[in-house]
Amino acid sequence: MKVFATRPLPGPAWTELLDVSIGSVDDAYAEIEVLIVANEMVDGRALDRLPALRLIANFGVGYDRIDVAACRARGVAVTNTPGVLDAATADVTFALMLAARRRIVEGDQLVRAGRWASHWSAGPFLGREVNGATLGIVGLGRIGSAVMKRAVGFDMRVLSVTRREGNLDELLRASDIVTLHVPLTSETAGLLSRERLALLRDGATLVNTARGAIIDMAALVDELVSGRITAGLDVFVDEPNVPNELLSLPNVVLTPHIASSTVETRAEMTRVVVDNVLALERGAPLLTPVQ
Ligand code: 8YV
Repeated sequence: MKVFATRPLPGPAWTELLDVSIGSVDDAYAEIEVLIVANEMVDGRALDRLPALRLIANFGVGYDRIDVAACRARGVAVTNTPGVLDAATADVTFALMLAARRRIVEGDQLVRAGRWASHWSAGPFLGREVNGATLGIVGLGRIGSAVMKRAVGFDMRVLSVTRREGNLDELLRASDIVTLHVPLTSETAGLLSRERLALLRDGATLVNTARGAIIDMAALVDELVSGRITAGLDVFVDEPNVPNELLSLPNVVLTPHIASSTVETRAEMTRVVVDNVLALERGAPLLTPVQ
């Protein structure tokens, strides 16, 4: 089978795929049957150039950058990597929550800048509690549920909304911390609109390890510039670009889309990608086809 990937993937399973060509999606040639992407965009135009394609295997659970309807219309299957990155993503969700509320990065920068002269020289350096806070979880799938499990250990009161249950506006009004765990779809794009962001409590913290476009970014920038809320953001609308205004703000912690990025989790993600490709080769059912 002719397999093309946008990059070699981490972990031992990768070596089981012999003879993979590497390059950008634009470099993929007409004969390829399998395209392995890591969140790169694949639209109808790209598919038109790949008439032999049978499978797009995405290294990642979110597949919002793949035009699944266009794939379906051309008989191209799509797989993702659900289930293996829930804990890693939930851990970074808590890391961002803790860092933003307890001012960890700000503190680190102060120490490194040599501005820590005595115990009180930085002032009282007051943060806000994570322990015992009310946590609003938007989306209770695998990752949202892993976040909820961790919240129990922090004695948090947990509120949640799903597609079917709960009221998002009420959750936003009642939570000290709000964290997003929904996929990016036409329904969730801009879900946290300017009006909804305004419902957040003063001093609330917003955490996003899902997708940048779920939040109205311009409105979030305004809220953060005003200093009314804090945030921990791992994902952005136009990665790797981050709104310039955020770069100098002390009340937002910024990470470069690393929520699944551990040696262990990334190896598991590669395992799922490789197993899907091998299943196709054997004529067996795909392990994790997307609907
Ligand atoms: C990956 C992700 O970093 O799983 C996802 O949806 O966004 C991340 O785990 C990404 O897919 C790899 O680029």
